[in-house]
Amino acid sequence: MSALANPGASAQAIQFHYDIGNSFYNLWLDRSLTYSCALWDGHDTLEAAQMAKIDYHIEKSGARGQQRVLDIGCGWGATLNHLVRTAGVAQATGLTLATQQAAHIAQQEWPGVDVRVESWSDHSPTMPYDAIISVGAFEHFAKLDQSPEEKIEGYRGFFRRCHEWLPPGGCLSLQTMSYENSSREDFSPFFASQIFPESDLPRLSEIAGASEHLFEIVSLRNDRHHYARTSLEWRRRLLQRRAEAVALVGEEAVARYDKYLHLWAIGFHTGTMGLLRLQLRKLETPRRLH
Ligand SMILES: C[S@@+](CC[C@H](N)C(=O)[O-])C[C@H]1O[C@@H](n2cnc3c(N)ncnc32)[C@H](O)[C@@H]1O
Repeated sequence: MSALANPGASAQAIQFHYDIGNSFYNLWLDRSLTYSCALWDGHDTLEAAQMAKIDYHIEKSGARGQQRVLDIGCGWGATLNHLVRTAGVAQATGLTLATQQAAHIAQQEWPGVDVRVESWSDHSPTMPYDAIISVGAFEHFAKLDQSPEEKIEGYRGFFRRCHEWLPPGGCLSLQTMSYENSSREDFSPFFASQIFPESDLPRLSEIAGASEHLFEIVSLRNDRHHYARTSLEWRRRLLQRRAEAVALVGEEAVARYDKYLHLWAIGFHTGTMGLLRLQLRKLETPRRLH
């Protein structure tokens, strides 16, 4: 399997955001350093809601009790840790483009966990995976300056790879933000240049189109209100530790994160943006491979 060109954000663009400093994220994320929308159904603490989200993806991907599971965009490893510690998975492999995230995971020495600083587009496993999870990374798999056709082709490349890596009937559990009552023309220049450079959000129709004939969509939730609540909680925690945050990354960066989390909460609350959780099952004999 030859490497593809990474159609999304470069390693440098990813590191601009995620490598600002592990101690900074440690101040305002939950203890597991999960950095994606939580699942608040029946939970009132960020910790519990993040664990519920991880459990949700473990169930939807069919990862429980499996030998080999892949986490594409593994962050600081909360899902990898949970897979081997509580879900009976023998080997959990994580991909990230952020070097500080990978260093953090390597430092934990979690048995059965392996992390690589590698894009999904360069990944070339020697054996298939039993299940795949990808949470909060798909937002980085396309760029704003791509044509609509290039954008879909990039996404299709991702789904093709996941299809190749899974066994018959295997599942990918995918979570991503999306454009809802908005489009890429509405993507704020503040986010594009100062928060998530080289990134663009998908629409649900683009995910459905790009995965067609490769995966069937088994379940879908739009939990945008869960992201409004998660963003507000992150912002509350950041402001509570503001002085320490400023000492770590400076006034300007803290003001940027404060503004981004505030705008995000509004975007999810009003339905400008959505939060999709999709369970995708591999089609065994696609009639047409794109
Ligand atoms: C918002 S974080 C989500 C982390 C984690 N899944 C969580 O829920 O806490 C996005 C992750 O996607 C990773 N990422 C972005 N582009 C990637 C790519 N092309 N290949 C692999 N990982 C990528 C980043 O390095 C980062 O770890």
